[in-house]
Amino acid sequence: MRKIILDVDTGVDDAVALILAMNSPEVLPLAITTVAGNAPVCECTRNCLLLTELLAPECPPPVAEGAAAPLEKELVTAPEVHGWDGLGGDIGSLPTPDRSAIATPAHELLIEIARRHPGEVTLVATGPLTNLARAHERDPEAMALYERIVVMGGAFGVPGNTGPVAEFNFYVDPEAAGIMMNARLNVTLVPLDATTEFSISWKQIVDLARKSGHAGQPARPKPRPGKDLGDIVFRALDHYVRFQREESGLHGAYMHDPIAVASALEPSLIEGVSASVAVMTEGDDRGQSLCMSPPVTPSGIEIALYPDWEMLHALIVGRALARAFPGSLSGDCPLDAP
Ligand code: BDR
Ligand code: CA
Repeated sequence: MRKIILDVDTGVDDAVALILAMNSPEVLPLAITTVAGNAPVCECTRNCLLLTELLAPECPPPVAEGAAAPLEKELVTAPEVHGWDGLGGDIGSLPTPDRSAIATPAHELLIEIARRHPGEVTLVATGPLTNLARAHERDPEAMALYERIVVMGGAFGVPGNTGPVAEFNFYVDPEAAGIMMNARLNVTLVPLDATTEFSISWKQIVDLARKSGHAGQPARPKPRPGKDLGDIVFRALDHYVRFQREESGLHGAYMHDPIAVASALEPSLIEGVSASVAVMTEGDDRGQSLCMSPPVTPSGIEIALYPDWEMLHALIVGRALARAFPGSLSGDCPLDAP
C-alpha cells in the first residue's frame, strides 16, 4: 500500500479527490494538509475535518492547517465556483466537526512526514502550492525525500480558467508554483489540458444521488446539510455544476483534483511528457505556465497529458461518488480492470 498525503484547498473537486483517496485500497492517507485557495484556509480545514470524520469515523487521518495567504500576493478565493464555505454554501452553514486540526502547521508536517518515511510517500497537491514552497524553502532536502509529488495545476495548450491564460492554483500563488516547478523534484503535473477533457454529467450525479435514497434535486434556498456525506456532496456538486453551466455551458462537473489523485493511485493511468515549466508572476500573465519539452536540463517534471478516461470514470464514479452515495452502484473498480 502506497503512503500518501493530500495538500488541499477543499473545494468541491478537492472533496471528491479526498473521498477517492480515502476509498482506495492501494493507498494509505497519512495526513491531510490545508491551504487557502478556493476558500479561506479555516473553511478548507473545517471541510477536511468534516469529510474525514464521515469517511473514517474510527480512525480519521490527522488534518494540519497551512498557509492562510499566498507567499507574496493577496489571497483570491473562488466562492462563485465552490461556494463561500468551499462546499457550495455560505460561511457557517456546514455542521461543526467533532475534532480539531493538529497543532503542527502544514508545511512543518510535510517536512516531518518526508523525513519519517524517506522515499515512501506520494504527496498530492490540489491547491495553490504555498505550503509546499514554504516546506521547500525551509528544508529542500526533506522535500526531495518524497517518492513523487503530484500537482494539479497549470494550463499549456488550452485557455486558463482564471482569466485567459492562467489556471486557478498557479494564479493564486504564482511565486509558490514557480519555486516548486524549479525545485528539480520528482513532479507529475496534471494541467487543465488533461483535466478539462473529462467531466461527470449532472444527469449521472442526480441518478447516483436518487439511487442512494437522497432527494437528488437542488433545493432553494440551499439546505443546511447535517452530517451526511451524500447531502454535503450533492449540495456542493449542485453549486459547482450550476457555475460550470453558466460559465461554459457544460452541464456537468470537471474533476480536476480527483484526476491528480487517480494519477497517484496508478501512475500509468496518465501518460506524460517530460518538460521544464516556468510560471509568470505579474500583470496580465500572472499564473500563466509555459513549458519546454524535452527540457534543456533535467527538471524532474512530467506533464500528464493523456489519461485513460475509461478508468478515470470508473474510479471517480465507481469509487468516489459511489462512496458519497452508497448503494447507488454495485461493485467497485479494481485498478487492473481492462
Ligand atoms: C483547480 O482550481 C480549483 O478551483 C480546483 O479545486 C482545482 O484544484 C482547477 O484549476
Ligand atoms: Ca483544488
